[in-house]
Amino acid sequence: MKKIVLTGIKPTGRLTLGNYIGVLKNLKNFQDEFEPYIFVADLHALTLPIEPEELNTNTKDIVAFYLASGLDMNKSHIFLQSMVSAHAELNAIMMNYLYMGELSRMTQFKQKSHLMNESAIGLGLFSYPVLMACDIILYDADIVPVGEDQVQHVELTRDLVRRFNSRYKTDILKEPKAVVNTTGKRIMSLSDPTKKMSKSDPKGDIYLKDDEKTIRKKIMSAVTDSGCEVKFDKENKPGISNLLTIYSALKNITVEEAEQEFKGCNYGTFKKAVADAVVNELIPFQQKYNEIINSNLVDEALNLGAEKAKVIANKKLQQVQRIIGLYETKK
Ligand code: TYM
Repeated sequence: MKKIVLTGIKPTGRLTLGNYIGVLKNLKNFQDEFEPYIFVADLHALTLPIEPEELNTNTKDIVAFYLASGLDMNKSHIFLQSMVSAHAELNAIMMNYLYMGELSRMTQFKQKSHLMNESAIGLGLFSYPVLMACDIILYDADIVPVGEDQVQHVELTRDLVRRFNSRYKTDILKEPKAVVNTTGKRIMSLSDPTKKMSKSDPKGDIYLKDDEKTIRKKIMSAVTDSGCEVKFDKENKPGISNLLTIYSALKNITVEEAEQEFKGCNYGTFKKAVADAVVNELIPFQQKYNEIINSNLVDEALNLGAEKAKVIANKKLQQVQRIIGLYETKK
């Protein structure tokens, strides 16, 4: 039996080069060896305020991006979290096995809630990792490819699995493993390379739908240090290090190889090469996206993927319901 790979993207805001390099770009490589379950975490998008039209458009976009990245709907099961009700049903159960203390220690919760008025923080933002754990558990995922910022949530899922299995003396839940890229697990903002590139930072982001001119402009004006050597040094040269990471991830080479390529080059020449690499990657990707978004492939993929996902997820949900003692009537 093939091992299961699973991951999801939340449709909040426009997807960035960080999402692309961190996860999207590599998903197609799992298709032959693994059985992929790839979804849009649309319920998770509600954890922060979002307009209905935006949620709707972003969701469709992510599915089109999945397909444009090379995912084949006949090999990868692509679906929306909200299409498979078992996610929400298992969430109602698993909420009781993760604790307030551990949820309040999650970095993402601390960062997001820190910017908000406490009385306006939704319960969903706090319990976010419970639903994420359910997303993973339902499919017996072996590996979960994510960017570095999501590793903590996968670790918490592992804790939950161990706790649950030990409480009920069972092994019905599988411990997943987070997998991060060697290069590109954390792409930084172009305007502040000490911060992660995130969906809500127009100056520091490259969006997957940015046109060529915008991409070039953003990279040429990326913040760098005052030196002149193209060298990977996260401490002292965070801007150059970030651009080296972007370049090597897109060219599928190591950072050392990229450093070697730009030995003796000035920042201008280097930045132009990075801009070329991004443009050469994203423009053909956008063309594929445009073909897909204007066809009925998105709905086709979702209907197909959700049908399969529902069967697998419902089976796991039923196993959990039985083992915890929920009463089942005879048919
Ligand atoms: P989300 O939507 O914030 O991000 C989607 C994926 O992109 C990665 N990522 C990055 N990688 C490298 N550099 C960056 N600057 C960067 N920014 C984002 C994220 O790590 C993520 O892998 N909670 C998840 C969605 C989710 C999920 C799941 C993922 C819900 N359930 C189950 C895996 C398994 C999230 O908000 O990702």
